[in-house]
Amino acid sequence: VNDAATKHLFDNRYGTGQSTIDGVIRATDMLIAGKRVVVAGSGWCGKGVAARARGMGAKVIVTEVDAVRALEAAMDGLEVMTMKEAAKIGDLFITLTGDMHVIAKEHLQVMKNGAVICNSGHFDIEIDLKSLKKLAVKEEKNVRNFVDAYTLRGGRKIYLLGEGRLVNLAAAEGHPASVMDMSFATQALASEWAVKNQNTLTPKVYEVPSAVENWVAKLKLASMGIRIDSLTKDQEKYLSSWAHGT
Ligand SMILES: NC(=O)c1ccc[n+]([C@@H]2O[C@H](COP(=O)([O-])OP(=O)(O)OC[C@H]3O[C@@H](n4cnc5c(N)ncnc54)[C@H](O)[C@@H]3O)[C@@H](O)[C@H]2O)c1
Repeated sequence: VNDAATKHLFDNRYGTGQSTIDGVIRATDMLIAGKRVVVAGSGWCGKGVAARARGMGAKVIVTEVDAVRALEAAMDGLEVMTMKEAAKIGDLFITLTGDMHVIAKEHLQVMKNGAVICNSGHFDIEIDLKSLKKLAVKEEKNVRNFVDAYTLRGGRKIYLLGEGRLVNLAAAEGHPASVMDMSFATQALASEWAVKNQNTLTPKVYEVPSAVENWVAKLKLASMGIRIDSLTKDQEKYLSSWAHGT
């Protein structure tokens, strides 16, 4: 279901995009405008966070390992660089990669005093918390709700939100119901489809059928009071034929 368009294009992008920023603001009361916000991972979640941070006036930096996604972010007008470069200049770091130790010891070592780090991707493994604890000479829990301060040798402080767990769930309320409805509808209808078609299915991973995706999208549009056009018979014929040139 995560690969279904009616899930990742909406829940991951708009849901995580909004609720992650919400978590950061609730935890820190930080002004996003003018800050260098480093978004690790330019997948659906990362794109959502980056777009919202930019909309709020941040200078957004993206880090990636996938060349196509990095290029896309660059052509979206975002700054793309390595985490090693970004670590030195970022004010707020948000990891959304599904990967481990995206913020590692070498990055923590060069961060600015007052840098805020958090994760909205995969569990609490995206930031190397063991290294953070080892580097720290002082650890202060809950300097604000959901904020722990780590003082490193030399006096620099790094602020960790939500213990490195998903910040939108730790410090905010997760996604609004009005985007989770699509994910849950897709799950429910895909499950119904699997049960109804059990006699023809073999044990493997299936994509959510496009009929289910279209149904969910149509229901959501209807709930928003939006109507769209339909193809005329002539348009259907035109689009499916090769008879006409330019
Ligand atoms: N916070 C939430 O509520 C929430 C909601 C949905 C998904 N997620 C999680 O967010 C994560 C991302 O989801 P997605 O849909 O954007 O996935 P995605 O696969 O579309 O994007 C992940 C991106 O991270 C990049 N990446 C991987 N390792 C990297 C590294 N070391 N440095 C920089 N970039 C790296 C990948 O190349 C990819 O472009 C997943 O772990 C997912 O489970 C969280």
